[in-house]
Amino acid sequence: MSEDIYAPATEVQNIAHVKSMEQYEEMYKESVNDPEIFWTKISKDFYFQKQPTGKFLNYNFDVSDGNKVFVEWMKGAVTNVCYNVLDRHVENGKKDNVCFYWEGNDPDDSKVITYGELYKQVCKFANVLKDLGIKKGDHVAIYMPMIVELVVAMLACARIGAVHSIVFGGFSSDSLAERILDGKCCLLITADGVYRGTKLVNLKDIADGALKICKEKKFEVKKTIVVCHLGPMSPPSDKKVSSPAAKRPCMSLVTNFVEGSDLWYHDVMSNASEECKPEWLDAEDPLFMLYTSGSTGKPKGVVHTQAGYMMYAATTFKYVFDYHDGDVYWCTADIGWITGHSYITYGPMANGATSVLFEGVPTYPGPERCWQVVEKYKVSKFYTAPTLIRTLMKYGDEPIKKYDRSSLKVLGSVGEPINPEAWRFYYNNIGEKKCSIVDTFWQTETGGHTMTPLPGCTPTKPGAATFPFFGIVPVLLDENGKVIEGVGEGYLVFKQPWPGIMRTIYGNHPRYEETYFTQFPGYYKTGDGAKRDKDGYIWITGRIDDMVNVSGHLLSTAAVESALVEHAKVAEAAVVSLPHKIKGETCYCFVTLIDGNTFDSELITELKHCVRTKIGPFAQPEVIQNAPGLPKTRSGKIMRRILRKIAVNNREFGDVSTMADSSVIDVLFANRPTSTS
Ligand code: PRX
Repeated sequence: MSEDIYAPATEVQNIAHVKSMEQYEEMYKESVNDPEIFWTKISKDFYFQKQPTGKFLNYNFDVSDGNKVFVEWMKGAVTNVCYNVLDRHVENGKKDNVCFYWEGNDPDDSKVITYGELYKQVCKFANVLKDLGIKKGDHVAIYMPMIVELVVAMLACARIGAVHSIVFGGFSSDSLAERILDGKCCLLITADGVYRGTKLVNLKDIADGALKICKEKKFEVKKTIVVCHLGPMSPPSDKKVSSPAAKRPCMSLVTNFVEGSDLWYHDVMSNASEECKPEWLDAEDPLFMLYTSGSTGKPKGVVHTQAGYMMYAATTFKYVFDYHDGDVYWCTADIGWITGHSYITYGPMANGATSVLFEGVPTYPGPERCWQVVEKYKVSKFYTAPTLIRTLMKYGDEPIKKYDRSSLKVLGSVGEPINPEAWRFYYNNIGEKKCSIVDTFWQTETGGHTMTPLPGCTPTKPGAATFPFFGIVPVLLDENGKVIEGVGEGYLVFKQPWPGIMRTIYGNHPRYEETYFTQFPGYYKTGDGAKRDKDGYIWITGRIDDMVNVSGHLLSTAAVESALVEHAKVAEAAVVSLPHKIKGETCYCFVTLIDGNTFDSELITELKHCVRTKIGPFAQPEVIQNAPGLPKTRSGKIMRRILRKIAVNNREFGDVSTMADSSVIDVLFANRPTSTS
């Protein structure tokens, strides 16, 4: 464990909202001992049409008493999140403030959108939704690239009380269909397509594929709204026009536009009114659902509600990035993941912040792209994933030094444990030793940061998520649920609710209780392991369930296995995590073929294709190996710990006495592809 300790950057500390650990500790104590007082003060920064009618916080985390798990913050209070992130700023004289600098895939493609302009577009689109009969409580699927219309769509839903379910644009038709079906979405919003670097993704085609699957399952999504984003097709580097209007008519990419059920966004927007009163909602009405991987292989529709989520996203954004007026903030995540929900749309906008909304790939057209964007907009707060930092490390200092990064003050990390080497590169080479690094541990389920340094006060250690955010009570438990005090390692759980915690899994409350609250009654189980060092710092060690974190994207091994067994030649599959230099982890797949089939490179390609089709290109496994037999217990359970050792070519298995047939091990070692050893 590293013993380097880095003091917060002086420039950040001098003006920080929290300047000292004493101040942090005082605020922290109040937040956990008197959450009602702490969050009531914060709620005053937002607009509530009515105050809570009952208890400010009401909850039960303990299933052992037979009662249901529930969490309610500010029940009975009435608000609207869209009003809080838009109208409030427009009414407070900030209508001309920049909300987003939109930066396209190509460096010469960009535009600026103010709070006032976004407000108008959101109102118009909210009216479009209403005209289509969408109302409070309806579910709307959104499958879009990183364009302003995506923010417009999500906020228009929020404005009228519809629940958005955004599906990351890298998911396949099958995955999109699964989420539309499970979420019972009545409308789909998508775009013609998007370039990611030089790669064209035909979103409308994929969306059509998903709707076809839904139809086969007797579920019909009646309307699809399509944003004409790309316009007439041309490779990205030849694209000269940047205004969406100039790109129309754009029917060339979309060949199967069905009049009646497909609607062009620009058509439906053309006559919509710019006035739309927000729907006033209960603090505990749902705001959105967002699917995250589940260890069973079936994704979970994580439900977040209005007031608690809004306050938590806003408060974490303010303190963790130490946001001040004048800052320009950039989060490189996609809005299709929770990071984009909380730290591109809701958190920054609740603070009236100015952000970069980036469509492209951080290494396109070259590895200097991030720093070119930082220089262009004078970005002061930058938030990305360790996988990108590791990718950039490969290119060395030259691309970084090409651009002026003197505006940078806070550098954030999210999505996976950051290895100390990448942390130091971030600090030394990118931040030039004058930025504070914030390694933020959190989850789709937590709504916002849970363990994180604060950039103006926390002395950091490379690779440590350090201390809890306000309201979070972390506890380490052993296998038997016994609390580990002091130095030690165990299951990371949280003892009491914070406003941003998920409220349920859509349509399956028992699964919510089972997944997060049953193993250790009275606690929320993160599913991650962590250790505490002698100074009380918390270090996240990674998932302790059957999940693989590929480049910051959580995948369930069960989902990859079920994609593999769909292939006609595959009898059985077992997938484990393999450490990867850039991606953090990747999937190592063992497949047992049905007798009479041959394992060859053609089959490997087909199997990789199966995973791309079933889940999405980002899930493609790194290694697929032939497994004539799998190590199993006598009761037939696959022994994954053995497979994990084989994947990394390690023969130290420990006890194998429970294994039914240990001869399979030698065969598996003999079959290891040589390139991975
Ligand atoms: O394993 C942890 C890892 O990502 C998981 C949550 O994934 P997801 O819900 O997709 O949300 C990702 C963005 C918040 C966690 O259970 N994780 C996330 N951030 C960190 C992390 N692991 C270590 N350090 C982090 N900073």
